Amino acid sequence: MPQVIGVPKETAAGEKRVATVPEVVEKLIKLGFAVKVESGAGDAANCNDETYRAAGAQIVDSAAKLWAESDIVFKVCVPTAEEVGLMHAGQTLITFIWPAQNPELMQQLAAKKVTVLAIDALPRMLSRAQKMDALTSQAGVAGYRAVIEAANAFGRFFNGQITAAGKVPPAKVFIAGAGVAGLAAIGTAAGLGAIVRANDTRAEVADQVVSLGGEFVKVDYEEEGSGGGGYAKVMSEGFQKAQREMYAKQAREVDIIITTALIPGKPAPRLITAEMVQSMKPGSVIVDMAAERGGNCELTEPGKVVVKHGVTIVGYTDLASRLAKQSSTLYATNLFRLTEELCKTKDGVINVNMDDDAIRGLTVIKEGNITWPPPPLKLPAPPAAKPAAMPAKAPKHGEASAPASGKSTAITFLIAAVLFWFVGAYAPPAFLGHFTVFVLAVFVGYMVVWNVTPALHTPLMSVTNAISSIIAIGALVQIAPPLMAQAAGSRPEAWILGLAVVGITLTAINMFGGFAVTQRMLQMFRK
Ligand code: NAI
Repeated sequence: MPQVIGVPKETAAGEKRVATVPEVVEKLIKLGFAVKVESGAGDAANCNDETYRAAGAQIVDSAAKLWAESDIVFKVCVPTAEEVGLMHAGQTLITFIWPAQNPELMQQLAAKKVTVLAIDALPRMLSRAQKMDALTSQAGVAGYRAVIEAANAFGRFFNGQITAAGKVPPAKVFIAGAGVAGLAAIGTAAGLGAIVRANDTRAEVADQVVSLGGEFVKVDYEEEGSGGGGYAKVMSEGFQKAQREMYAKQAREVDIIITTALIPGKPAPRLITAEMVQSMKPGSVIVDMAAERGGNCELTEPGKVVVKHGVTIVGYTDLASRLAKQSSTLYATNLFRLTEELCKTKDGVINVNMDDDAIRGLTVIKEGNITWPPPPLKLPAPPAAKPAAMPAKAPKHGEASAPASGKSTAITFLIAAVLFWFVGAYAPPAFLGHFTVFVLAVFVGYMVVWNVTPALHTPLMSVTNAISSIIAIGALVQIAPPLMAQAAGSRPEAWILGLAVVGITLTAINMFGGFAVTQRMLQMFRK
């Protein structure tokens, strides 16, 4: 008998998201499940009852009926006491729970003898878990929306423009915290044409900031901010002082600040003081994404937009819900991927397998027993961290800093040298010429590709493609009749000449077009 997945209408005030969308309903049915949706559940996310029905779902009139008829319930928000009251023993609930913040709710759910999978408890460090990572999908949407909110409150263009009516400078945007939401905000603001700067206590994100079109602004103080697992740690007082100085300078210069700084389990770090807000130009905007956790800005009021010292401070705590169709679709896909993991047999019945690391991490209550927190994950030991403050230096001759890797490099070189000697001694001279060119080409190619920053690999490919038009020389030789005729003792045939002309035309397009496209691509990286 296939199990029923039920999707109730969210009851939290202002929540527009829904836990599944019609496109995903079809996939759940293919996995063998029956799907029931409460009438009007998707209205605010542009998914009406009719579209769910067309996808194969059954529409149920009331929440009470839906909870009673469902074996598994998909939700977005933490359930309310009334919703817990509607649950029955043996049911499975999949939603955001935040077990550390909601101990009472955990007790109420356990008393109901249900199984609860908290999507926020997913072990995000497992690469297999990425497809189910709703925190990432929702933070990405929220980061995008934060920029749109900033653009809405800001009185100017983001991109620089030169018009008959005058020159408009590009907006300057500073992003504090380059985690999931921060990186999404950097990409969005850069895409709109702003000059984007960003800072994070974790130095490892600097490359990601640059690859998305931002500039990483360092704090003038050597301290590594990574607390492990991709999260930050609380920084020393010395660092915080240096960081405040840098943020104060940015506040005076930029038009928009978007703050996303978060340390799990801690109140949001206070990064933007009242004086910094006061020092900003009138008409500037701050979007404080950490509003719900107390805010990164001292003057933020959670859930509200306020104007202080001429600066608009946006403290919305429901940014993902403000892009309901997009966030619901991504969330629905995360839950579908999780359902696939729970139902490997594709027979419409889930198996909460506690031997699976990802499922174990998510399961906070199993048949009425609280199973949170899970035991620590057995992950392979991470590579030893480089001391961030030390400049990279090559080991001195004879220094035994990395004996294993030094030994293997020496062995590789020895094998290569023997092979080259063998080729040199026995290969025919004609082959040797080609082989030398080949080896040099590999070396030059390696040096070129490895010394170009990854963000510029697309223009690099385009320019190398343009350079490859050097093959035009072959066709040029064909249409140089006097020389060739003398050399070969005959004139090339007309059809060969024709082909050569076509070849030259096509390679010319490739060559000039390639350089033009490369030029345009490089323009996009220039500010
Ligand atoms: P994340 O953990 O991926 O990123 C947070 C980043 O802040 C990390 O890169 C961390 O290194 C950095 N950070 C921590 N302390 C810092 C400091 N003192 N200075 C500079 N950087 C620091 O978190 P995610 O998913 O990007 O979320 C960011 C924030 O947005 C969180 O506060 C989250 O609760 C909030 N959020 C708000 C939403 C809304 O509607 N307002 C929706 C989704 C997320």
